[in-house]
Amino acid sequence: MLAQANNEETENTEDKIRPQRLADYIGQKDLKGILNIAIAAAKGRQDSLDHLLLYGPPGLGKTTISLILATEMRVNCKITSAPALERPRDITGLLVNLQPGDILFIDEIHRLNRMTEELLYPAMEDFRLDVTIGKGQTAKTRSIPLSPFTLVGATTKAGSLSSPLRDRFGIIQRLRFYELDELTLIVKRTAQIISTPITESGAIEIARRSRGTPRIANRLLRRVRDYVEVQKAETITAELAATAMDLFDVDREGLDWTDRLVLNTIIKQFNGGPVGLEAIAAATGEDRKTIEEVYEPYLLQNGYLSRTHRGRMVTAKAYQHLGFSSHDSVDIFSK
Ligand code: ADE
Repeated sequence: MLAQANNEETENTEDKIRPQRLADYIGQKDLKGILNIAIAAAKGRQDSLDHLLLYGPPGLGKTTISLILATEMRVNCKITSAPALERPRDITGLLVNLQPGDILFIDEIHRLNRMTEELLYPAMEDFRLDVTIGKGQTAKTRSIPLSPFTLVGATTKAGSLSSPLRDRFGIIQRLRFYELDELTLIVKRTAQIISTPITESGAIEIARRSRGTPRIANRLLRRVRDYVEVQKAETITAELAATAMDLFDVDREGLDWTDRLVLNTIIKQFNGGPVGLEAIAAATGEDRKTIEEVYEPYLLQNGYLSRTHRGRMVTAKAYQHLGFSSHDSVDIFSK
């Protein structure tokens, strides 16, 4: 019971800190501009929004955007994910119950199975469901009309989507890592919602270690808040935040234990690379997909790792950050 109560508490807090309107959403300026136009146009035509594909690393706000679109359009948002849509009746059940204009959010959409994906094609294009009734020679196809709806697909891997599915999205947008000033605003906004006093430099310190990701910023904020409370302090300052995050093993650049493990492993066991993802996964004991979709994007984007046709290589910046001398890095790079 306790676990359940805690979950509920977390979920409620989660809901409270999500911005409800596009105007409250910080960052992703280009995406917001495009969505503002799409919303105004759809409202003007009294039509549903175009289907939207959002891609980018986890934690950048794909679900939040989908919920905001539903609020702005005054429709419902049904949330599901591809692994939950195993049988044809899983997706048909959702589709036939949609009200006009509703949003269907499918997370990890690159993982849809073939049958579900094929049911989605006429649904997206003509708001029609083609179902086969019966088996073998007596099987018949029937078309069921659907309410016009908007599919919002989210994926960390846009390249893994089949082109027929990708082509059916009217808007395809990438979510980017957030800038430091945007993350600082997000930390301050969340701190206010959870009634935690924080200084400007405290918010910057948390933002700086959040790997460009609001979900991480908000998670770190809550953990730092716990630390500060236990210390009987009232306000999150830069010093307290730094001490707490050092304790949680989140370093000054926001790299956590696993990031450093990945980089250290490539340096120590593979001479800095190039090395394939499988070998990194085996040597670190981490899941290959998690490395590829969660850890690697930030390490690549921030210049700790580079990807070559022969595999991943750590950069001089990573050597320096991990405390290897530049002599080590020159030596190894010249091999
Ligand atoms: N909380 C999480 N992400 C956010 C964002 N982009 N804007 C405002 N608050 C947020």
